[in-house]
Amino acid sequence: MNYKKQVAQSIVDALDNQLDEQVVYEKIEVPKATNLGDYAFPTFVLAKTLHKAPQMIAKDLVEQINKSGYEKVEAQGPYVNFFLDKGTFSNEVLQTVLTQNSHYGDATIGNNGKVPIDMSSPNIAKPISMGHLRSTVIGNSLANLLSKTGYQPVKINHLGDWGTQFGKLIEAYKLWGSEEEVKADPINKLLEYYVRFHKEDQKHPELDDEARKWFKKLEDGDKEATELWQWFRSVSLKSFKRIYDKLGITFDSYKGEAFYNDKMDEVVQLLEDKNLLKESQGAEIVDLDKYNLNPALIKKTDGATLYITRDLAAAIYRKRTYDFVQSLYVVGAEQINHFKQLKAVLKEMGFDWSDNIHHIPFGLITLNGKKLSTRSGRVVLLDKVLDDAIDLAKQQIQSKNPDLKDADKVAHEVGVGAVIFHDLKNERMNSFDFDLSEVVRFEGETGPYVQYTRARAESILRKSDHKVKITDLNLADPNAWETLKFLQAFPETILRAVKEYEPSVIAKYALHLAKSFNQYYANSKVLVEDDDLNARLALVQSVSVVLEIALSLLGVQAPSEM
Ligand code: ARG
Repeated sequence: MNYKKQVAQSIVDALDNQLDEQVVYEKIEVPKATNLGDYAFPTFVLAKTLHKAPQMIAKDLVEQINKSGYEKVEAQGPYVNFFLDKGTFSNEVLQTVLTQNSHYGDATIGNNGKVPIDMSSPNIAKPISMGHLRSTVIGNSLANLLSKTGYQPVKINHLGDWGTQFGKLIEAYKLWGSEEEVKADPINKLLEYYVRFHKEDQKHPELDDEARKWFKKLEDGDKEATELWQWFRSVSLKSFKRIYDKLGITFDSYKGEAFYNDKMDEVVQLLEDKNLLKESQGAEIVDLDKYNLNPALIKKTDGATLYITRDLAAAIYRKRTYDFVQSLYVVGAEQINHFKQLKAVLKEMGFDWSDNIHHIPFGLITLNGKKLSTRSGRVVLLDKVLDDAIDLAKQQIQSKNPDLKDADKVAHEVGVGAVIFHDLKNERMNSFDFDLSEVVRFEGETGPYVQYTRARAESILRKSDHKVKITDLNLADPNAWETLKFLQAFPETILRAVKEYEPSVIAKYALHLAKSFNQYYANSKVLVEDDDLNARLALVQSVSVVLEIALSLLGVQAPSEM
């Protein structure tokens, strides 16, 4: 039910259609203070047409308005304030939530359109950074939001598994590497070789030549080079997957940069056909002056292709494979320019669908104030952050609920959920710090707080023998009003999150709903045997349903006991 629309209709009727409903609808405000009603209409718009002072208009309008369906309609200065009828509202909202259950908030705006989401996309033989973690959880939540609203997301892990650095890595491994070492601790060892290579090639520039030769061999499909590369890739992927498993996140595709090797000639050809390639100091570039961007470097002097060349091939491949309605790239804000260039080159190539490519950037996370850098080789640390979060959750569960069954499973859901939630509650573009003890708290603005509230709702339902019936769910208790309004706002909140590509909208919503429900529970007795018991429990159950959906949209589990 769209109450704002109902209010607009009431106004238009009272005005004998002197104003267009859409015009009125857009003017309607939601007052901050509850004593000003649920919706307010500022009458200034009418002053000119009616040749009257807004205050007068408000007074007259109130007289004309049909007040059935409202608790009251009042004039306050130039505003007309509408107070919805609480019983009717609650009945409608609770019936809708309980009937639709896990489908509450489903929408069809996506028309089954496919949306590839480029997410996570770490680089082989290097640790997953906090940035990759952000990309993973933001991308996953966007995928959930898109499914919920009728799109078909395709989660793509565009692995950084190609580039000249693999020549260096092979050379480094040949010089100093050992199979045993790599097997025991793949990412850290490979990173160590790579870092050592960079140190030594300062003194021995001939190392660079060797590395170039290896990369050339790799590009030409040489057996040894290919086998080593494949091995580096597979051990790296295995260690990445350990983290993905912990997070409970899966991908539909692991087609990384290397996959596009044989698709690059076509890109270069297309650029040539359109006369877009220019030579600049031996390299091939696309001039992007008219976009106010630096030229895109397509081919180096030695003929090697670049990151953006592979991205061009990937974008075209995705369009052909999925015929997408949108194509998203969840990648840190430091690559804003890269994606501007990518879109501009595609546009120059005559691909209008370039407009449907969206870079979804995000800010940095620091860990207890420190930036996580590749050099420090902290892949274990990220894995360890999750393990530490799980341990902290376990400690809290042990002190709060020592008899909980499945305590380990719940601790995992709470610990990992806490890390994900903390990431997603911050607006994407904001940078923020990550302090584990804050993140895993059961109170405050945390994931565990939302999970705990939902588990509490479940426990209230378990305590009562009464099974909720979807009948008349008229709950006029003013203490319940805020919660009811939040419940009603869930579908529009989901749409806003999708439109803004902003999971934080859902995380913040879940915090608000949880807080309002806890206030309700503190102020009203739920489990008393009276006529309203069924309606009150319907509210409790609705809160549980909606919190569970909200958490699942974020990729966070909702244990029913904790
Ligand atoms: N591997 C890149 C990095 O770690 C991210 C790739 C993002 N995706 C893309 N299609 N460019 O910086």
